Amino acid sequence: MINVTKTYLPPISKYKECIDKIYESGWITNNGPLTKELEKKLAKYLGVKNIILVSNGTAALEVAYRTLELEGDVITTPFSFVATTSSLVANGLNPIFADIDKDTLNINHKYIQQSITKKTKAIVPVHVFGNACEVEKIQNIANKNNLKVIYDAAHAFDVKYKKQSILNYGDISVLSFHATKLFHTIEGGALIINDDTLVEKARQIINFGIENNESIPLVGINAKMNEFEAAMGLLVLEEIEEIKLKRKKLYKRYINKLENIVKTQAIHKNSKNNFSYFPIILKNEASLKKVQKVLNDNDIFPRRYFYPSLDTLKYIKSKQVCKISRDISKRILCLPIYPELDYETQDLIIGLIKESL
Ligand SMILES: Cc1ncc(COP(=O)(O)O)c(C=O)c1O
Repeated sequence: MINVTKTYLPPISKYKECIDKIYESGWITNNGPLTKELEKKLAKYLGVKNIILVSNGTAALEVAYRTLELEGDVITTPFSFVATTSSLVANGLNPIFADIDKDTLNINHKYIQQSITKKTKAIVPVHVFGNACEVEKIQNIANKNNLKVIYDAAHAFDVKYKKQSILNYGDISVLSFHATKLFHTIEGGALIINDDTLVEKARQIINFGIENNESIPLVGINAKMNEFEAAMGLLVLEEIEEIKLKRKKLYKRYINKLENIVKTQAIHKNSKNNFSYFPIILKNEASLKKVQKVLNDNDIFPRRYFYPSLDTLKYIKSKQVCKISRDISKRILCLPIYPELDYETQDLIIGLIKESL
């Protein structure tokens, strides 16, 4: 069975060595030595100042909103994984959707501008499939309107914009280290915070709002990463160059063989992609279903991602219709891409897509 992704697992012997160390120390969670080591190594690898590891990407989003004390309306994209929007709703914020660009699949800054009202407090864009948003234009809009910017960078591990980390844009960026991601810690995530004065606050929020084990000044949650997850992260990080290279080769092969047959995502000219996803955009939903069926019949399972468009969720109060996002979400499929995928299987996938079209 070929799924859209397959988690990279380091050699079991190496993971066992780490587990032995954890057992020896007896320190299994609460900001342990491996979590601290991974924070240091990731900050260096990614080229960021402040990184805080947490239990998952959704928690990272929630901690970001709480750290910035957001209230009211937040402009976000309807074309994302549900967590981008549900984390807002769960924190009493009101998502206002701005439609996307049909080629880059990212939130369109022109629609952000049009959606701003007196109630708007922040913008939550997503670097969709690791494709950098129009970060400079979004920052200009935020500066003019006194808005915070939180990037959902769940897909943007090691993505560069003008040769520096994309994670350094906005007030806070949030990563997911879920097992399906390019870099993973089984479950996990991180906050990248640009304002040094907010770092301690976020650290308190991930630990129930407790300060120095003495007072509890903030409403916090439990969003701590544990040592077993950090150990996995340290081992995956050792292999990350190899993982990226293999994905890059697969991505280029897909592009070469499919570019003239199906529409693919337009990558921002200043963005260096991390090759974590390969989405194809079909002519219509019927065509998508045809391709999906032919692949499924051959035990190949691409993913309808993202589907459905988040402006269709029943629990959303504002009744906006984002036509572009609705249209794209009905006809986009992410194809299998992961380091262990061999070229023969990839060629089979490509052949079946060509045949079914
Ligand atoms: C764009 C986006 N945001 C947020 C998340 C949530 O991350 P996690 O699964 O680590 O909670 C995901 C997860 O797939 C995602 O794709």
